[in-house]
Amino acid sequence: MSIATSVLNRHALLTRYLRNRERSRALFDLLADDAYYSRPIALRHPIVFYEGHLPAFSFNTLIKRALGGPSIDPALEALFARGIDPGDHAASGVSPGWPARSAVREFAAEADRRVVEAIEHADIERPGHPLLDRAEAAFAILEHEAMHQETLLYMWHQLPFAEKRRPSSYAPRLDGALPPHQWLEIPAGRATLGVDRAAIQFGWDNECPAATADVATFTIERHDVTNASFLEFVDAGGYQDPRWWRGEDWTWVQSERMTHPLFWERRDNRWYWRGMFELMPLPLAWPVYVSHAEATAFCRWRGARLPTEAEFQRAAYGAPHDRERSHPWGDDPPAAAHGVFDFSSWDPEPAGSHPAGASAWGVEDLVGNGWTWTSTTFAPFPGFRPMASYPEYSADFFDGEHFVMKGASPATARELLRPTFRNWFRPRYPYVYATFRCVRQDPARG
Ligand SMILES: [Fe+2]
Repeated sequence: MSIATSVLNRHALLTRYLRNRERSRALFDLLADDAYYSRPIALRHPIVFYEGHLPAFSFNTLIKRALGGPSIDPALEALFARGIDPGDHAASGVSPGWPARSAVREFAAEADRRVVEAIEHADIERPGHPLLDRAEAAFAILEHEAMHQETLLYMWHQLPFAEKRRPSSYAPRLDGALPPHQWLEIPAGRATLGVDRAAIQFGWDNECPAATADVATFTIERHDVTNASFLEFVDAGGYQDPRWWRGEDWTWVQSERMTHPLFWERRDNRWYWRGMFELMPLPLAWPVYVSHAEATAFCRWRGARLPTEAEFQRAAYGAPHDRERSHPWGDDPPAAAHGVFDFSSWDPEPAGSHPAGASAWGVEDLVGNGWTWTSTTFAPFPGFRPMASYPEYSADFFDGEHFVMKGASPATARELLRPTFRNWFRPRYPYVYATFRCVRQDPARG
């Protein structure tokens, strides 16, 4: 099987698959048993769905669709492919009737067995095959599970503390000093946005094909906006002033009675941060986690704006003489010194605690410690084609209602830290590990 152009390293794929499954198991083990059918975020499925969905997606994609293998249990494969639409049952009042956990685990074990066998022995790399060219389906299932692990963690974040098992090693980093306010100039230049599929081992359809943008000179904050800075906006009445909010966002602030970021709590006249396993006095030096709507409002209040996707790329990966880097810090593979990612922490860490991860221009924490909101609407690059192994992955979201986030959070797997990787959410979805920083066009105003 080893030909010069092959991307197939069965041992590496198997190691990643087993590592993913082990990490997913550990995430589900964090929960008390009675949380299993609960729905920590109303817009998402209950927890039971995800324990079935991860192996079902892998099985459906690689074994059934790509290799044409037989079913294990057609009903469960369908249920865990899309779940039960909450709308189906809300009206009738009928209980959704999810399977017992033992049945979910039995199905998962068999799906795992067949996926592992395929990775070890099946013909999973076939040039020209719609799902198996460059082993696309195998890589898709690996990245799918890693991405869901972040989704699971931000869902777990919303569960009551009593429904989670706090690891004995849990020790949020509350010690950081406030970083100084500093604006850095990023010189004009060309930024890479997309990449040709054949140029990388694997990429999602929305990253392709190659695309670039010319970026004018701008200034950007060296650090993420911290809880301390955002508190100034809250104290200045930012959530009560429609001048700072886009129309739909202001409607949301009023209808949801938003007065502060979702991760904050007000008790006894003091601010607290709702960590993964405990409530703690608001860590002022941490990046603030907010929705796109709140980030946009803060920027307007400051007389600034969010970066575009192209500006983020230029700030993060650009370098003098237009030689772009693989990561903000250079071409070395991601390591703990470079930032907070790859599940190294349950919560953020103080802004500016990873100077070794600074970009060529000195901008810190662009990858890690929280995704960075951009002002760019999620849209395809010219020449986009939906990928055969997961055609709805991106195309369902090109609706003008989603904004691009770049970078990484503490819960983003290291294999997703490539320059072209794009994430996207609705502007008023407040649950994700996303922060931001401001940019300005005119350096004189900095
Ligand atoms: Fe999924």
